[in-house]
Order: sequence, then C-alpha cells, then structure tokens
Amino acid sequence: MRLAKKYGCDEEKAYLAGLLHDITKNTPKEEQLKIFNDFGIMLDDVSYAAEKLWHAVSGAAYCEKVLGITDNEVLSAIRYHTTAKKDMTILEKVLYLADFTSSDRDYDDVDIMRSLVDISMEKALDYALSYTIKDLVEQGRQIHPDTMEAYNFVKENI
Ligand SMILES: [Fe+2]
Repeated sequence: MRLAKKYGCDEEKAYLAGLLHDITKNTPKEEQLKIFNDFGIMLDDVSYAAEKLWHAVSGAAYCEKVLGITDNEVLSAIRYHTTAKKDMTILEKVLYLADFTSSDRDYDDVDIMRSLVDISMEKALDYALSYTIKDLVEQGRQIHPDTMEAYNFVKENI
C-alpha cells in the first residue's frame, strides 16, 4: 500500500494483491497440479521445472475461480509476482517490488533494494531483475522467458 501510494496506483487493489499473492504458496504440489488441471492451465516447461514458480499461476487461478476475484489488474499482479514480465502495470511492479523488499527477505542486496525502491521504481526493477538473473545463473538454474523479457524491456526503457 505504501508503494502504491508513492507511485500512484490504487491502494486498495495493492492491499488485495498483497494479501492474496501467496495464497497457494504452501499448497501441496498435488493440489496445485489439480488446480492447473481443473482450470485447464498448461504450464510452460521452465515453470513446470521450477516448483517455486507454481504458486503465482495456481494462486491467480484460485483467486479468480474459487474466491471469485474479478479484477484483472489484481489477478495479473498475482500471476506475475514471481517472474515479472515485460511492460508491467504500476500495480504489477508494486507487488513485485514489495514482495522483493518485504521485511522477511534477507538476501545479500536487500538493503540496496529497499533504498532503491524508494528512489525509482524502474531502477529498482532493473536491479531486482539483474540480481535474480545473476543468482539463477550462479545456481545453474533456468531463467523463465517472462523474466528475460522483463529484463530486456527495462533495459530498453530505462
Ligand atoms: Fe510468492
């Protein structure tokens, strides 16, 4: 809500997205697979291989189909809060960055991210995506195409 206010998007939508974004994070794998199956969702190969990414997809579907959330801006912010994507709305950026800088995070550069997020949303996004991609490469993991597109888009437009 604080970032929403600072960057001029609907605080109530930010509150709702923030409240619901991890709703299926601790949902067992089998139940998330059932959500995908029930709602006709096909995961791409990179997402399928990275279980950490599942809850953004299953969470958005659960919010829409089970909880009856109809606000597409809120649903999309939840859907892309893990990978990001190119050309995000302010609400999508707000949720992504709020999640990246929340008080329970303790990765190496979290203090830099926390100050950047109050200076410039675009700079914070650039830093967050660069950090994420570097980290994934160092761990020998795949990079989701949406994350690459988000990074390239930010670099083109910063
Ligand atoms: Fe999450």
